Amino acid sequence: MNVTDFEMIAQLLKKRSGLSLSKDKAYLIESRLNPVARKWNFAGFDELAQAIRAGKDEPLLVDVTEAMTTNESFFFRDQKPFDQFKDMVLPHMLEHRASKKSFRIWSAACSSGQEPYTLAMMLKENANKLPGWRVDIVATDISKEILDKARDGLYSQFEVQRGLPINLLVKYFKQAGDRWQIDAGIRQMVKFQEFNLLTNPSALGRFDVIFCRNVLIYFDPPTKTEVLAKLADLLVDDGFLYLGGAETVLGMSDRFQLMPGHRGIYRLTTEKRAKVAS
Ligand SMILES: C[S@@+](CC[C@H](N)C(=O)[O-])C[C@H]1O[C@@H](n2cnc3c(N)ncnc32)[C@H](O)[C@@H]1O
Repeated sequence: MNVTDFEMIAQLLKKRSGLSLSKDKAYLIESRLNPVARKWNFAGFDELAQAIRAGKDEPLLVDVTEAMTTNESFFFRDQKPFDQFKDMVLPHMLEHRASKKSFRIWSAACSSGQEPYTLAMMLKENANKLPGWRVDIVATDISKEILDKARDGLYSQFEVQRGLPINLLVKYFKQAGDRWQIDAGIRQMVKFQEFNLLTNPSALGRFDVIFCRNVLIYFDPPTKTEVLAKLADLLVDDGFLYLGGAETVLGMSDRFQLMPGHRGIYRLTTEKRAKVAS
């Protein structure tokens, strides 16, 4: 790929999804976009690049953007954040939402659904503490294709072997051919919706807990700052923000502060809370 094509495609991706690619990632563009070129019957990468440059075919640009997303995810990813959800966040909600008996969770880049389904299974496992409660789990992603997979709740043997305890596999999954499908009851607990983190999130409403894990790593610092500001606006004053293990707000946002002793969990800085009523 020549430098001009690299720059043109990198710019397009940055604008559409926030993805920031350095020049040494040119190989990634080629390897991810060659299948798109084949799907669209282009003679090769150069012809695909020409069509992208023309910029007239929105479905092609969507395919290009989706092909460049990294959808790696697994159940109970990193384990600790979910232990902390059970031991700290859930008790906080039970105490502080006792009068309204409801709270809302947002999985803000949910990929193929393992993160929101992990939360749904945990809530189901703790159902005895939540009689009469309503817990909304809203799961969003920029990629239509990955959301379709998430909604189906179908996972390979490899995917269910990564992080999912065997007792939960037995309890909440059924074998479907060579794959495993998560229980309809768990699927119904999660509302999947297409959403680009670069756009205005206000229609989603406010949340008590936001999981925005392993997506900011793909953005450049100004985009991280912009997205963190949107998350801060949507989080209720005593809410919790989860970031991925390699992510931080340091130098990116002064609206969040790390919870001491809780790696990856952030709360709103008191004086920087949103000026919106919760
Ligand atoms: C590596 S996965 C993270 C999945 C899950 N949160 C986890 O930690 O396992 C990153 C996801 O972010 C999504 N993504 C990338 N850019 C996005 C954007 N601008 N808006 C919303 N989702 C985006 C990708 O489609 C991908 O599914």
